[in-house]
Amino acid sequence: MQQDVDIPNMLLSRLTSIAILAAQTAGEVLKRGFDTTLVTSSKEGKHNLCTDYDEKLEKLIIAFIKDHFPEHTFLGEEFGAHGNNPQAIQWIIDPIDGTVNFAHSIPIFAISIAATFNGKTLSGVIFNPMTNELFVAEKGSGAYLNGSKLKVSKTTTLSDSFLATGFPYNTHENPRGCINHFMAFAKLGIPIRRLGSAALDLAYVAAGRYDGFWEVSLKPWDFAVGCLLVEEAGGQITDYDNAPITTDTETSIVASNGHIQDHIVNFLKNNTCDAHDH
Ligand code: IPD
Ligand code: CA
Ligand code: CA
Repeated sequence: MQQDVDIPNMLLSRLTSIAILAAQTAGEVLKRGFDTTLVTSSKEGKHNLCTDYDEKLEKLIIAFIKDHFPEHTFLGEEFGAHGNNPQAIQWIIDPIDGTVNFAHSIPIFAISIAATFNGKTLSGVIFNPMTNELFVAEKGSGAYLNGSKLKVSKTTTLSDSFLATGFPYNTHENPRGCINHFMAFAKLGIPIRRLGSAALDLAYVAAGRYDGFWEVSLKPWDFAVGCLLVEEAGGQITDYDNAPITTDTETSIVASNGHIQDHIVNFLKNNTCDAHDH
């Protein structure tokens, strides 16, 4: 478990303000790039795309934040880590979460920018420039959507739940039984969404739109902001083993309104194999 640290409120609100400005600045560029001819390349796997906007925005966001906090370090999806000082705040950035949607002109994607320290998120924003929805979370001060305070839903049973999930780029290898998990949830006959942006999925749990979310193998840039949003909106986050998560490493995630957290964790544990497996 990582240690909690006391960060002065003034610094926290400065981190949040800069994260908001960086996301809005990047959002304008991204919106202009929507539905244009994109230059794309593939990372490992044909569908794990990188557009010229992913790289352009990550550079832009880091340069913007560096201007205000030259001593901080960075971890971005496209260019990895810059700087290695465990005593400094580390910004974790996903320039486009939902790149496959963006590349196919589907307006469901977001910029995710977190300020973290010692494996924990202090503050962050998730911004969908197409809907103009700006989700902001600050440790101890709540979660907000365009200035309105967020609260998770009140649903208490799985059978009444509206859930979301996502799939990693190696779903065909069935990591941790992710295909079995999806089939088992589908068999409950409840509504399930797979929108293609883990950051937005988590933001929607915080907003009470979804009751819960699960996904295997998420990277720190996918969940760093979303997890704080959910916690600050009164919800709960663990990994599949019910352990606390840290932004230091890839992890499985269960996020919920808190009431159904144990139900989801136990359901995943009990449905890893289908009837033909062991
Ligand atoms: C992906 C999205 C997707 C999730 C994948 C992520 P990317 O991020 O969040 O919803 O299912 O696991 O890798 O590649 O669009 O930044
Ligand atoms: Ca992502
Ligand atoms: Ca991305």
